[in-house]
Amino acid sequence: MTSELRVGLAGLGTVGAGVAAILAHNARALAWRAGRGMRLTAVSSRDRQKDRGVDLSAIAFERDALALAERDDVDVVVELIGGEEGIARALVEGALRGGKHVVTANKALLARHGAGLGALAERHGVALKFEAAICGGIPIVKSLREGLISYGISAVRGILNGTCNFILTQMEASGRPFAEVLAEAQRFGYAEADPTLDIGGGDTAHKLTLLTSLAFGTAPDFEGVAITGIDKITPADIAFAGEFGYRIKLLGVARRTAGGIEQLVNPAMVRAGTPLADVESSFNAVAADAGEAGPFFFQGRGAGRGPTASAVIADLVDVARGALGPAFGRPAAELVPPRREPAEARMSAYYLRFQVLDVPGVMAEISRHLANQLVSIESMIQRGRAPGEPVAIVMITHEAQHVAVVRALQAIAASDKVVEFPCMIPMEAA
Ligand SMILES: NC(=O)c1ccc[n+]([C@@H]2O[C@H](COP(=O)([O-])OP(=O)(O)OC[C@H]3O[C@@H](n4cnc5c(N)ncnc54)[C@H](OP(=O)(O)O)[C@@H]3O)[C@@H](O)[C@H]2O)c1
Repeated sequence: MTSELRVGLAGLGTVGAGVAAILAHNARALAWRAGRGMRLTAVSSRDRQKDRGVDLSAIAFERDALALAERDDVDVVVELIGGEEGIARALVEGALRGGKHVVTANKALLARHGAGLGALAERHGVALKFEAAICGGIPIVKSLREGLISYGISAVRGILNGTCNFILTQMEASGRPFAEVLAEAQRFGYAEADPTLDIGGGDTAHKLTLLTSLAFGTAPDFEGVAITGIDKITPADIAFAGEFGYRIKLLGVARRTAGGIEQLVNPAMVRAGTPLADVESSFNAVAADAGEAGPFFFQGRGAGRGPTASAVIADLVDVARGALGPAFGRPAAELVPPRREPAEARMSAYYLRFQVLDVPGVMAEISRHLANQLVSIESMIQRGRAPGEPVAIVMITHEAQHVAVVRALQAIAASDKVVEFPCMIPMEAA
């Protein structure tokens, strides 16, 4: 065996403490996998005294995480602090510039700065690895970067945020509204105190940005993702979805189209009984269409100490084995931003729900505005007559231009018979 790989670990929280524990307890098994030993030589966190559940007394402590990038006894810096700017970015840049490999779980940082950081790593002849940044324990980065490469990928779709999937699953099971289920998820620690990044779709978009880059060989393009969160989804929509034979999931979808590459994050109708529709609770999943290699489906735990630390360790073993390679699977110079599919080209069938006053002529008015925009209806549910009161009219359209459906809904929303802006959810082809 050659000399051991010396690890500097920044961040000793949920993931960092898990990584420290695996390095401490599984050293022998990991050395076999890696072909050499791996040893934690230095750590950094804000609070030195906090009990991390693992004995760190013999390991050097740095009050300033940036010092890890300077230490002679660190070959690889593991960044598990988080955040797209600040200390995390400075540490990753400093380590790469200093000729140290970097392993990180920081999807926010990479979604924004991945191309530049990948180029920096390449310039300094070191690795930048991020298996843990997408779907925690699922080995999707390696699968896309090194496995499914022969025929090209035409589409990736994923349930990439466990909090959102947990909330939608709970809403479906209990029939309770979004706000109530979110509050409960926060009480049980399944959702952050500030859940904006999760429920607003931003976290899914960070991960989708990286998936797109790995799948299509393009530079991460976070600004190119069209994002809609789950906060407007109602129990009624979930129940109607069930009647039509669908479930509502927050999906990240990236696909190659005639016009370019489309990146979407939104609640979508997924046909019941398909693998993505069956993903329950806080699980994550990714479906990839890999040309002649066929369709693939990955499912597993997307977050938490065990799954995420496991992915970090897999990257460390790769670094120890000398499997360095470019961060996004192709040389930095080749990594150009994707040609974005123009918004006008976006096509889908849609689920539409209208809350309308039950008065004569309302259906004719809705139909006229949809027809004006060449949006045709495939199926419809209208029930519960309540003259003069609000009722729901629900329909699924044939495939239509996204912008045309939006225009039709804007016209419909202006009617005095329509009590709220209509709900619009794309149907995801399985
Ligand atoms: N948690 C997950 O399931 C999960 C899943 C996938 C990816 N990730 C990613 O993994 C990264 C870490 O997440 P986490 O959940 O482990 O976070 P966390 O539990 O909040 O831990 C963050 C750690 O960073 C330390 N820290 C904060 N500011 C620091 C500074 N200026 N200098 C040194 N240390 C500092 C904290 O120190 P103290 O403990 O002393 O406060 C803490 O140990 C994030 O990028 C996250 O997006 C997490």
